Amino acid sequence: MAVACGEQAAESRTVPRHVAIIMDGNGRWAAARGLPRVAGHRAGVQAVRRAIETAAQLGVEWLTLYAFSSENWRRPLAEVLDLTGLLRHFLRSEIAELKAQGVRLRFIGDRARFERDIQIDLGAAERDTAHNSKLNLVLALSYGGRAEIAAAAQAAARAIAEGTLDPAALDEDKFAGFLSTAGIPDPDLIIRTSGEQRLSNFLLWQCAYAELVFLDLLWPDFGPEAFDSALAEFARRERRFGARPG
Ligand code: IPE
Ligand code: IPE
Ligand code: MG
Repeated sequence: MAVACGEQAAESRTVPRHVAIIMDGNGRWAAARGLPRVAGHRAGVQAVRRAIETAAQLGVEWLTLYAFSSENWRRPLAEVLDLTGLLRHFLRSEIAELKAQGVRLRFIGDRARFERDIQIDLGAAERDTAHNSKLNLVLALSYGGRAEIAAAAQAAARAIAEGTLDPAALDEDKFAGFLSTAGIPDPDLIIRTSGEQRLSNFLLWQCAYAELVFLDLLWPDFGPEAFDSALAEFARRERRFGARPG
C-alpha cells in the first residue's frame, strides 16, 4: 500500500529512526460497534500488520509496539486469555511473512509470565529473524518500565557484588546496558492512540527526550494516513535536548 504524504514530501522530511506506539483503544472500538472486546483486539492485530508494513515504507528503522503491559494481567481472566490466544496465533501465523519481509523481531518484557509454548515461540521468532535488517520490530509483552528499571538495578547490583562492575563506572550508558532495550536506540517518537495522554509505564527510561504525539483515533482505525500524519507532526517539532534553541 502506497502512503500519500501530506505537507512535506516523505523524502525531504526528518524521519524518526525509532517510533514506539502505545496501541490503545481496542475495547472502545469494539464497544462503539456493540461487539465484544475481543473483536477490538482482533481488529487491533490487523492494525499491527498495517503499521509494520507502513513503518518499513516510511523508512523507519525501529518500531516498538506496546502490546501488553505488566498491569494488563490484572484484567479479567477471559480477556487475558483472549489476548494471549491472539499472541499465540500471531506468532504461529505471521512469523514466516515477517521473515520474508526482512523484519527482525525482538521482545521486551517479562516473558516468563507467559505459558511455556508461547515462550518457546518467542525464542524461535527471535532466532528465525535474527539475520534480517529491513525493519527492527520490538514487541513489548508483559512489559512495564518500572519493573524493567528495577530488574536492571538488581542486575547491576549483582555485578557489583560479584566484583565485575565498579560502582563508580555505573553511568547512564552502563546502566542502559542492563535494560531489556540494551543496544536499541532510544525512541525518537512515541505515538499513543485512543485520546489518552499518558505513558502507562511504557519505556520510562528510554523516552527521556522522545517527542510525544497523541492521536484521537482508536488503535484498530490506525492506518497509513495516521502514521504518516504523526511523522509529519514529528518533522515539525524542534528537538533541543536541553540545549539552547536555534
Ligand atoms: C489496547 O486496547 C490493548 C491492550 C491494552 C492490550 P484496550 O484493551 O486498552 O482498549 P480500551 O483502552 O479499553 O479501549
Ligand atoms: C496501555 O494501555 C498498554 C498497552 C497499550 C499495551 P492500557 O489501556 O493498559 O492503559 P491505561 O490503563 O489506560 O493507562
Ligand atoms: Mg486501554
